[in-house]
Amino acid sequence: MNILVIGNGGREHAIVSALAKSPKAGKIYCMKGNAGIAELAELVDVDYCDLKAVGDWVDAHPDVEYTVIAPDDPLALGLADELEGRGHRVFGPNKRAAEIESSKAFAKALMKKYGIPTAKYEVFSDHESALAYVRRGNFPVVLKADGLALGKGVLICENLQQAEDGLRQIMLDKAFGAAGNKVVVEEFLTGKEFTPGEEVSVLAFTDGKTIVPMIPSCDHKRAHDGDKGLNTGGMGTFTPCPFYGREEADEVMQKIMLPTVAAMNAEGRPFKGVLYFGLMRTPEGMKVVEYNSRFGDPETQVVLPMLKTDLLEIFEAVTDGRLADIKIEWEEGACVCVVLASGGYPVKYEKGKEIFIGQLDEGVLLYHAGTKREGGVLKTNGGRVLNVCAKGRTVAEAREKAYENVKKIRFDGMYYRTDIGIKYSK
Ligand code: AMP
Ligand code: GLY
Repeated sequence: MNILVIGNGGREHAIVSALAKSPKAGKIYCMKGNAGIAELAELVDVDYCDLKAVGDWVDAHPDVEYTVIAPDDPLALGLADELEGRGHRVFGPNKRAAEIESSKAFAKALMKKYGIPTAKYEVFSDHESALAYVRRGNFPVVLKADGLALGKGVLICENLQQAEDGLRQIMLDKAFGAAGNKVVVEEFLTGKEFTPGEEVSVLAFTDGKTIVPMIPSCDHKRAHDGDKGLNTGGMGTFTPCPFYGREEADEVMQKIMLPTVAAMNAEGRPFKGVLYFGLMRTPEGMKVVEYNSRFGDPETQVVLPMLKTDLLEIFEAVTDGRLADIKIEWEEGACVCVVLASGGYPVKYEKGKEIFIGQLDEGVLLYHAGTKREGGVLKTNGGRVLNVCAKGRTVAEAREKAYENVKKIRFDGMYYRTDIGIKYSK
């Protein structure tokens, strides 16, 4: 079966690598891909947010029998609807289902209506009322632009001044564009005794009837060591999470996952694809921080390498509504991913720097994110450039191996966090 994968990051490199292992997979195309993906797939240079252009390309390639949509923006725009409308098979939720990620106001209202544990909140579409509300409120307070904002539309405000500035940025200056037409003002969640709550990402396959969680992983969203600096798309991940055991998984299944699937069905928005639960452990139990309508990046880069079952078989079972018939198995042990980023990311950074890669140790997985090949030379082409992933019996072992291999890679301005998974490596 020939497959088209939509996307161009490290997540897509991990997805393409897993699909390429399937005995059922034929030729793989990737729109738009990167230099690493090019070793496994034929790259297609079409803008995947141009729904008509993608539809026309798939129509013109009858050998492509299946399309996997990985990133949030084409899902939010309705690429699944576009392709299904033209009679093609797709992995990924339709536009109405993807709103669970693309509108935070929708996601919050869903959780409130169906009693799914999350932070208390109010939604505002005019600046004056939002301002009046934060002036009465407690601090810290969390401001979230309603729409998609590359993981940057969330502001944690310690005091009134920061909240006023934040509301101005989101609602008046439109720092996140139309995503800021509405704003969610949310209670700040913490762990025990106001320490930061432990966060975990749990991705799950669902066909709208059955939901099967993948192994849990932890992201590091801030740019610098010790969770300092700006929020990014994610600077590194590890699996498993020591604080997310059997008990937490059962609680999340009963109180969050099953109710979410049922809620989406009750709203006439059955969700088929990967549903991502961003969770925080609080003194009142696990709560939802965010939903995503897709695989996480860089969560996928530590989760999929541990998958023993054929990913293509799982995808097709989701598409065909027979996920309950499949047994999904995982390797034991740990995996750590370190993101190598361009100097200045997530704000302003240069592209086109030559990348040097030495001989990596056996078993190390190097996923490409923002890379391209120019006249045979590998160069940087984005903020997050490469993902160095390694497995081990423990997070500590995997971490050591990943960092040993990070040392073998360099490009001008390269930076990375040195503390991925360190908290759980003692
Ligand atoms: P999000 O993009 O919604 O995942 O938010 C980015 C990060 O902001 C999360 O990973 C949390 O660390 C933090 N965050 C978001 N909402 C809250 C909240 N209500 N309370 C505490 N921290 C939050
Ligand atoms: N790593 C967070 C995300 O993919 O949204």
